[in-house]
Amino acid sequence: MEFITRVGAAPQLATDCIAVGVHAGGSLTSTARKLDQASKGALAAAVESGDATGRRGHALLLRALPGVKAARVLLVGLGKAEDFTDKAYAEAVRTAVKHAGAGTKQLALAAGDWKVKDRDAAWHARTLAAAAREVVFRVDELKSKKDTAAQKIEQVAWLAAARDTAAERGLREGTALANGMELTKRLGNLPPNICTPRYLAEQAKGMAREFDLDVDVLDRKDIEKLGMGAFLSVTRGSEEPPRLIVLKYQGAGKAAPTVLVGKGITFDSGGISIKPGANMDEMKYDMCGAGTVLGTMRAIAELKPKANVIGVVVACENMPSGTASRPGDIVTSMSGQTIEILNTDAEGRLILCDALTYVERFKPAAVIDIATLTGACVVALGDVNHGLFASDDALAEQLLAASRAALDPAWRMPVQEDYQEQIKSNFADMANIGPPGKAGAVLAACFLARFTKAYKWAHLDIAGTAWRGGAAKGATGRPVPLLVQYLSSH
Ligand code: BES
Ligand code: MN
Ligand code: ZN
Repeated sequence: MEFITRVGAAPQLATDCIAVGVHAGGSLTSTARKLDQASKGALAAAVESGDATGRRGHALLLRALPGVKAARVLLVGLGKAEDFTDKAYAEAVRTAVKHAGAGTKQLALAAGDWKVKDRDAAWHARTLAAAAREVVFRVDELKSKKDTAAQKIEQVAWLAAARDTAAERGLREGTALANGMELTKRLGNLPPNICTPRYLAEQAKGMAREFDLDVDVLDRKDIEKLGMGAFLSVTRGSEEPPRLIVLKYQGAGKAAPTVLVGKGITFDSGGISIKPGANMDEMKYDMCGAGTVLGTMRAIAELKPKANVIGVVVACENMPSGTASRPGDIVTSMSGQTIEILNTDAEGRLILCDALTYVERFKPAAVIDIATLTGACVVALGDVNHGLFASDDALAEQLLAASRAALDPAWRMPVQEDYQEQIKSNFADMANIGPPGKAGAVLAACFLARFTKAYKWAHLDIAGTAWRGGAAKGATGRPVPLLVQYLSSH
């Protein structure tokens, strides 16, 4: 799907479909009024008849209007003008793309007059491109028959009265964001027999070649040399070899980099503390933190902001076997701190803690880890907000601001010294779990905090937000929008 800007008067525009807005109560937006005048009242009549309701999510397709050159006019419901929020805008774009008509290949959106308060043209264009791409995304890579009912829209035009370079830039940014999100979704949705640690490493290498990034892939021997005893304990039960992947984007010379660290458990069976069978397939999504890092790096590589960004993926499987680690095992992390593994299913923090020690060498401006870390985070925040934990208030505020601008919500949770005694161990420096049923997401973050003293750090628990279950099962591509927004504004 290609995005362009088109300048001209709406009634004279030759295209398959023009989408214009109507608010609840029937008031037409300015481009809609122009088409109404040109067609001698056809749009007002559609409102009058009750067919065009102006309700959010509703759209009416009109064909062959007199005085209008476009083959179709789509009246998109925008809801009440006073409630036209940023979310309503993105929804209106999705509604337009969905209802543009099965024959439409070229769609022009008069989105320039769907203005959200306090948002600039670049934001509108960026959000438009990302939302439109979301609608046409299909998961049929592994189906023998492809989805033929899929939308055929090839080109979406931002229709404006005059040339708008901010909108042009926004469309490019939205395209890069969508490319990143689609990579994250694709990797998340791939099955665990295909999307292995080695596969993730190949993806990173391919991306490095395509976008001229630096890439470094560490294998088991390298990981042993580094003394990553916590990471190694998780991979012990699996036949699939582990990988530590480092991707570097340099857009700001010698400036301190922002480092992203992604949890890449390509399948989480729980290990010896094995999970129940129901929905266990969904634990293929336990690499969505890693997928987010790769998707974000792809978007950044395309956007080329003046920033240095390092993406680190720590990847292995968590499997039970005769060589798997046992509850009660004590391991030594790369930091030298010892950990008593009381539950082999709390494996994410074990691989992350070593990766978090490893990244000290980059002297980072900030480190953000992204992980499907705890079921407790799903209980706390559901599938709306990412859990945001941070040792630094300013970093937390910046990430929250980015999350609002990107329509990718996060909610701050505590990381606090007072919780630390709950993960003490009688036999090692710490245990990998706390008491059951209490503050599980917070304790996991507090565990990670013990390894992040050397830099500013934030942690995103995306266990509830990285994928959807049920009938619409699939990866969401979140929190790529949040991270791309943050990285391109810092
Ligand atoms: N990958 C899971 C967390 C998870 C569970 C994400 C459900 C999404 C949905 C993680 O490795 C895990 O198993 N965590 C345990 C920790 C517990 C043993 C302290 C959990 O949340 O049950
Ligand atoms: Mn687990
Ligand atoms: Zn896990």
